[in-house]
Amino acid sequence: MCGIVGILGKQAVAGDIVEALRRLEYRGYDSAGVATVENGLLDRRRAEGKLRNLEARLHNQPLQGRTGIGHTRWATHGKPVERNAHPHMSAKVSVVHNGIIENFRELKAELTADGYKFETETDTETVVHLLTRELGRGVKPVDAVANMLPRLQGAFALGIIFAGNDNLMIGARNGPPLAVGHGDGEMYLGSDAIALAPFTDQVTYLEDGDWAIVTREGVEVRNAGGMRVQRPMIRSPAGTMLVDKGNHRHFMAKEIHEQPEVIGHTLANYIDMAEGRVRFPDLGLDLSAITRVTISACGTAYYAGLVAKYWIEHYARIPVEIDVASEMRYREAPLPKGGLAVFVTQSGETADTLATLRYCKGEGQKIAAVVNVRTSSIARESDAILPTLAGPEIGVASTKAFTCQLSVLACLAIALGKAQGKISDAKEQELVNALTEVPRHITTILRQEAQYEQLAHYLGKAKDVLYLGRGSSFPLALEGALKLKEISYIHAEGYAAGELKHGPIALIDETMPVVVVAPKDELFEKTVSNMQEVAARGGQIIIVTNAESGAAGCPVHAHIQMPDTHPFTSPLLYAIPMQLIAYHTAVFMGTDVDQPRNLAKSVTVE
Ligand code: AGP
Repeated sequence: MCGIVGILGKQAVAGDIVEALRRLEYRGYDSAGVATVENGLLDRRRAEGKLRNLEARLHNQPLQGRTGIGHTRWATHGKPVERNAHPHMSAKVSVVHNGIIENFRELKAELTADGYKFETETDTETVVHLLTRELGRGVKPVDAVANMLPRLQGAFALGIIFAGNDNLMIGARNGPPLAVGHGDGEMYLGSDAIALAPFTDQVTYLEDGDWAIVTREGVEVRNAGGMRVQRPMIRSPAGTMLVDKGNHRHFMAKEIHEQPEVIGHTLANYIDMAEGRVRFPDLGLDLSAITRVTISACGTAYYAGLVAKYWIEHYARIPVEIDVASEMRYREAPLPKGGLAVFVTQSGETADTLATLRYCKGEGQKIAAVVNVRTSSIARESDAILPTLAGPEIGVASTKAFTCQLSVLACLAIALGKAQGKISDAKEQELVNALTEVPRHITTILRQEAQYEQLAHYLGKAKDVLYLGRGSSFPLALEGALKLKEISYIHAEGYAAGELKHGPIALIDETMPVVVVAPKDELFEKTVSNMQEVAARGGQIIIVTNAESGAAGCPVHAHIQMPDTHPFTSPLLYAIPMQLIAYHTAVFMGTDVDQPRNLAKSVTVE
């Protein structure tokens, strides 16, 4: 996740900006920079690597401006070199950016045709030139931003300052979080309250689609339609803790909403979005020679592995053996020499998963860990680490770690398919482009969160809930059931939809809610049949689909409309409704959402 900071100060701001960026180091980065307005002129200092390199640059060539923006960058488009480091700028405007601008290639072609020269490989530079073109036409800065924002497609946050104006800073949020800090005669922008903590605890969190016009006198917030809106100024506790809930009631809610950002951050570690290709780290083994993949994990992480089984078998044509670690560790499964064993784990400390890793290592497997904590036991005992870049996950119920695990495993499936000669360059580009769109689609889904609060009042009265799915949606049905039961304590079961007639249909009556995970893919019509069997027995269907309303051809209790997506990436998107259904039902039930009874965040014992 990149870090954004901006300050309208009473004195030179460069040093304070660097201090604020230091508080965002937990997000991970590979370069940093600061830009300021001084005597009406924009100037900047940037450096590769850690903030100390930027500090050295500023020591040798100080910036005195009282208006400035700063950035720590995790490269998504273009190598992590100084040339690509933020802030990006022209003589008229300087910009820092967090997230992905998906349509940057079209914008770059349009601007190049207009005579703009691109110096970097970044998507951010398109924002600089779009604004420069507006300003060059005599458009005022605020109107230039109003005209520019609708041109961008993707999940992003922006910080902007302008030449000739040292009392104006504009921030925009379209996915990744952004907050405005209120000081005494000073104003601030930050990716979160942690960055602002050194200056203020009075914070206004921008909502998705908002943009903020900041001067030393205060802030005017406008929504995506350009209408002025009121956003509350709240006192943030972030000064006391490194990880705070932001403006969310629970860590789980915050972590659900962090997914557009952390998925983009994780994907950027494995794909080159500019080239539309997978850029997978060397696992120290020949992917083309692998004859079987073994996957083992527990709980939600196991369901991520189960999705990966569908992907790897479909796209790489390699057989996948998968089992929960608590079974795999005792089964003594015979494993082919030189096979790849993949362990999926957020904490990297799950006892059953670690024990199974050791068994597989003893069986001569190459060990790869998809892990969120890189210093964990499982990471240390693996031959290759495939990090999820979800950041700290505090809620016991795994959410952003799950979708980041899926992101890594999706890239692994593509890398295996390429190595095995089963995926063409064109297919690779198609799949990578689909992954690049995931943060934006999840942002869209999160914007429709209100419907889940209403649904929760219904589900909260249920004694049992059934979840159904087919193909790569079947693991999502299992995950949805786990999410609901582990935080609301309502019994729920996930089932392969095709198994309905083999027993579970006996459960169906008018008291039984049935959540159906049904992207409009090649299995959709078969799932429609299952829904009609449920409806015929009075079952209350909650359909989650990108198909049009009424597509089930039977009465439904609720229809959750999803964005259209490539079948490959539907598990990443359909995880969000599974999380939101569980979260809002648990809130309705009044359970301890972040610390559910009997559960621990990491099961380090058998
Ligand atoms: C997830 O919602 C659960 N809390 C739990 O199933 C978890 O996924 C499982 O314990 C595995 O943990 P790990 O990813 O840290 O190995």
